[in-house]
Amino acid sequence: MMWLITGGAGYIGAHVVAAMRAAGERVVVLDDLTAGRSDRLPADVPVVRGSVLDRELLGRVLAEHEVAGVVHLAARKQVAESVEQPIRYYEENVHGLAVLLDAVTAAGVRALVFSSSAAVYGMPDVDLVTEDTPCQPMNPYGETKLAGEWLVRAAGRTHGIATACLRYFNVAGAARPELADTGVSNIVPMFFDRVTTGRTPLVFGDDYPTPDGTCVRDYIHVSDLADAHLAAARWLADRPAPGDLTVNVGTGHGVSVREMAELVAEVTGHGGPVAEVAPRRPGDPARVVASAELIAKELGWSARHDVREMVTSAWRGWQHHRGQTG
Ligand code: WQD
Repeated sequence: MMWLITGGAGYIGAHVVAAMRAAGERVVVLDDLTAGRSDRLPADVPVVRGSVLDRELLGRVLAEHEVAGVVHLAARKQVAESVEQPIRYYEENVHGLAVLLDAVTAAGVRALVFSSSAAVYGMPDVDLVTEDTPCQPMNPYGETKLAGEWLVRAAGRTHGIATACLRYFNVAGAARPELADTGVSNIVPMFFDRVTTGRTPLVFGDDYPTPDGTCVRDYIHVSDLADAHLAAARWLADRPAPGDLTVNVGTGHGVSVREMAELVAEVTGHGGPVAEVAPRRPGDPARVVASAELIAKELGWSARHDVREMVTSAWRGWQHHRGQTG
């Protein structure tokens, strides 16, 4: 079966491409290459440079490659940027999805996997976040992901497309150094950036109601996340009738910012203080940890890599891209 992977040249997309190809699926990538890099992809994967806002291009790619399923990852994903540019986020993340769904329904595509986020939950006040925990996004990024889920489910129901919305928790690590995240907008690369420039990592607040006072998150290895896409794609492809599935993709295990700082210090081998406390970052929930039960039950998927493997593989990727020896 041929799959279109939108955003397939991005950090997560390239891992999805690798996982699906390793499992024998055929893929074509659509990516506008603003954040993606085609050198993350094997030479024999067709890459179409373009936007999901380009309806005509989408129609052509779906027809020419006889696409039967879509994994939609192309989106903007930075929370702070979404607060500054909400219209751009709605345009690319929601309108882009609407254009894609229009093309998908016209082309007779049967299955769609949508990249959603734990950001749909906002500030959940529960120990483990289940898929039934109320969705109350706290920023335009999270809003666009929730609106995207609504759109995906509505279009799927009406037009007979089997759909899966995957709510990613905090993604880290790399399957290979070349596939690593090159951005510096999440905790692991932000800590690497500090230690490799002679600065101490910052802990944004140590007075949260958590065991060590720092925020707790559920970190998931990008290779595990990619396998979850493969599992969802197969689940959809094998369904006798359309239906939808919305699941958390996390480990069920919380790691504090302080624990992460200690691990980064150990893995990178940089001396000096492990971390210094800075003021809280506005909008940060104290604890966001997934219940990973539903995805295990529905897709038979569970995470296989631990947080040490995430930091170790991310560090190799950081050194590869920055040419640093640590
Ligand atoms: C994790 C924790 C920080 C850097 C965001 C989005 C989410 C998803 C992933 C997706 C927080 C703390 C960080 C630092 C720190 N986005 N921190 N010092 O905010 O949980 O999630 O990115 O597509 O939707 O909301 O991730 O990695 O920014 O932060 O103390 O230098 O680390 O305060 O508690 P976050 P993060």
